[in-house]
Amino acid sequence: MAADDVSNLEDVDFREGLDGLTPARISTLYRQAPLLRPVSNLSQVWDMFENSSLVLTAHYKGELVGIARVLTDGVLYSYLCDLAVAPDVQRLGVGRALINEVLKRCEGTELVLRDSDISSGFYERLGFSRVDNAWVIKAREV
Ligand SMILES: CC(C)(COP(=O)(O)OP(=O)(O)OC[C@H]1O[C@@H](n2cnc3c(N)ncnc32)[C@H](O)[C@@H]1OP(=O)(O)O)[C@@H](O)C(=O)NCCC(=O)NCCS
Repeated sequence: MAADDVSNLEDVDFREGLDGLTPARISTLYRQAPLLRPVSNLSQVWDMFENSSLVLTAHYKGELVGIARVLTDGVLYSYLCDLAVAPDVQRLGVGRALINEVLKRCEGTELVLRDSDISSGFYERLGFSRVDNAWVIKAREV
């Protein structure tokens, strides 16, 4: 698919939920974007999606071109686990539209995420603020 195929954002269909998604379609999009996730393990990919609070997808001519996946408690915090847009439709507003929809659905909560060097400019452009008081550890039995 070429980017000029998408003449405007109205040609892109946005949906909520897992309908029409398969782990293989998700993995293909993540490889293309690229978004580093355990995409070779399809059963893990599906678990990630089934255990999420909110999954928003973007489709163009039946093809999956965007995903936002969120965990939220609905009150205080929401975590944007994944955001990926297919390269052919990047810079056309799909990422912004997915984030705007996440913000609407998670209104009142603080949306947190991990970024990468290539995407930090995108979050800055959308009005996110960088924080330096975050800590992480890989959960395991102690
Ligand atoms: C980052 C990503 C989700 C952005 O999606 P997108 O659909 O291309 O973004 P949009 O077209 O909605 O861009 C919104 C604005 O951000 C800008 N922008 C987009 N990507 C940017 C980047 N990497 N750096 C700086 N600005 C960026 C756009 O130019 C646009 O600016 P405008 O307000 O002047 O129009 C997409 O490039 C992607 O999937 N990248 C690979 C995976 C990834 O890095 N995901 C995030 C992991 S944390």
